[in-house]
Amino acid sequence: MLLPLAALLMGCVAQIHAGVYSDRFLQQYNKIHDPKNGYFSKEGIPYHSVETLMVEGPDHGHETTSEAHSYYIWLEAMYGKLTNDFSKFNTAWQIMEEFTIPVHDSQPTNYKYNPSKPATFNPELDSPDQYPTPSQPEVPVGQDPLFQELQNAYGTPDMYSMHWLTDVDNVYGFGNSPGNCLAGPGTPGPSYINTYQRGSQESTWKTIPQPTCDNFRYGGRNGFLDLFVRDNNYVQQWKYTSAPDADARAVQAAFWASKWATENGQLNTISSTLAKAGKLGDYLRYSFFDKYFKRIGNCVSPYNCPGGYGKESAHYLLSWYVGWGGSLSDYNGWAWRIGDGAAHFGYQNPLAAYALVNDYNLRPRGATAVNDWQQSLSRQLEFYGWLQSQEGAFAGGATNSWNGRYDNPPSELTANTFHGMFYDWEPVYHDPPSNRWYGMQAWSVDRLAQYYYVSGDYQAKSLLDKWVSWILSEIKFNGDNYTLPATLEWDGVPPNVRVRVSGYTNDVGTASGTARTLSFYAAKANHAEAKNVAKKLLDGMWKLYQTDKGVSTPEEASTYNQFNLPIAVPYGWTGRYPNGDVIDNSATFIKLRSWYKNDPDWPKVEAHLNGGPAPVFTYHRFWAQADHALAQGTYGLLFNE
Ligand SMILES: *[C@@H]1O[C@H](CO)[C@@H](O)[C@H](O)[C@H]1NC(C)=O
Repeated sequence: MLLPLAALLMGCVAQIHAGVYSDRFLQQYNKIHDPKNGYFSKEGIPYHSVETLMVEGPDHGHETTSEAHSYYIWLEAMYGKLTNDFSKFNTAWQIMEEFTIPVHDSQPTNYKYNPSKPATFNPELDSPDQYPTPSQPEVPVGQDPLFQELQNAYGTPDMYSMHWLTDVDNVYGFGNSPGNCLAGPGTPGPSYINTYQRGSQESTWKTIPQPTCDNFRYGGRNGFLDLFVRDNNYVQQWKYTSAPDADARAVQAAFWASKWATENGQLNTISSTLAKAGKLGDYLRYSFFDKYFKRIGNCVSPYNCPGGYGKESAHYLLSWYVGWGGSLSDYNGWAWRIGDGAAHFGYQNPLAAYALVNDYNLRPRGATAVNDWQQSLSRQLEFYGWLQSQEGAFAGGATNSWNGRYDNPPSELTANTFHGMFYDWEPVYHDPPSNRWYGMQAWSVDRLAQYYYVSGDYQAKSLLDKWVSWILSEIKFNGDNYTLPATLEWDGVPPNVRVRVSGYTNDVGTASGTARTLSFYAAKANHAEAKNVAKKLLDGMWKLYQTDKGVSTPEEASTYNQFNLPIAVPYGWTGRYPNGDVIDNSATFIKLRSWYKNDPDWPKVEAHLNGGPAPVFTYHRFWAQADHALAQGTYGLLFNE
């Protein structure tokens, strides 16, 4: 008798939330989950966008990213809070795990990895048309202090990190699905691919997409390998890349799930998923390390800068990527791992760091993990402070490896460094410049505001005070309509960075992120204007920009004149995609992707290529649609409206 009664009481305590803004969350959530709107594949994987003709970070809308998965997990965490059904949060994690974290057979030779020699130095290229220089085994690299610790904690040499990009519908036909290596065009399910590979000037338009597992079935004589590295002897191999902001967002989403499920008396229904989030956070520490585990600070000249011991090679920031790979064969097998010495402020996530230190449900098992995340939390906050412009917006980031080759940086960057790392106003990629898009501000500062809301940390508050007053001065309303920054230009070096807004937009993705940032800040700092602006943005979007499928505005695809852009392929190199598309030195974006000509939206692009105006699309990107739902729901939860 007692037990059912207790369960009944728990059921009464758990609040089903109702209000204008939480209702909007549920309406938007239902649109995202309505099968006729096409957000998910038949396996339940969220696509990058509903629309297939889509070229930006990914080169096709029905690819997906670890970013989309992380938003899906967050969306389901809030659904749990508002309906008391957290099973969908578990499902989202399970889908992410099954389709983005390589199974053992897809990363088979990690046990061959030698942590005292993680990888061989390969200088990064300036542009995709340079031929790769041979790797340089004599350049000193450091040792990997995580491998043994993680193996001890989890009993496996395999990585638990998301690979960032998959071809969900197997459009390229590689059939490089979990457990397979190039099973070919008939294979169902997502296929792991990579695009970027050739230096900081390589935009999507210049990429040569390639599978993560290369057994030379497609591409040229050596698969795709000899396009990207120069060697005497090419060996069949596998390799993955993670995007640390996405893994951190999944941890952050799990933190909210933990808090909300606790409030609703449902913690036991998700505790095993939360433990997995702690594990993801444990492996995410690889992003704290220099690419070749060299010493952090004044690391100039590949030969002179020494490899690091222990944590000497950790900058403790969330860098741009983590890479890992190895030979396919056990015989003479090998494996490698790299971190990244370049950190963008836009990837930082102080709430994920806070969660991994303070939430026991997410506690990573690695012996030094909690210490490392504690260090990371304070280092991230210091980083925001170092990068904050006079106006309040945050400048790009810092690197331990100038030009990706440990070059000598320009002299104006050596006076004021960040723990010996050099300021970079556009870290990692330059086409387009990586800190031009305002969205990086909305994404990263939102996490800073969430951290402030949860912790009350005064250091975070003072960074936010300045940022919020900047953004409030830049948002303009015209009736229900609004504009906010689209693009930013940067001048100067820390501590004297200046920002100028060079373009404005009514984009719903960034407006949603901005509204949520302002909501968290307003709720903690009791700031009436920030709350009011958040509300007006949310109301304006809801009133003006709802579509059948979500909330979106038409946008001119001004970059879509590049389908015929030549793509650099070394003279004499020839290869093929599974569908027969030829890769040679006459390659263009469309020649490597002839399947795009069957897309229902292709005629719009073709008309533009024949001299017509730029095509206009009303896109439904998964992240933006989830961001909108989450912004409405957050406002509802914080202000009980
Ligand atoms: C809102 O403002 C933007 C930017 O000024 C404009 O392009 C758009 O047409 C406006 N939308 C409406 C519904 O008035």
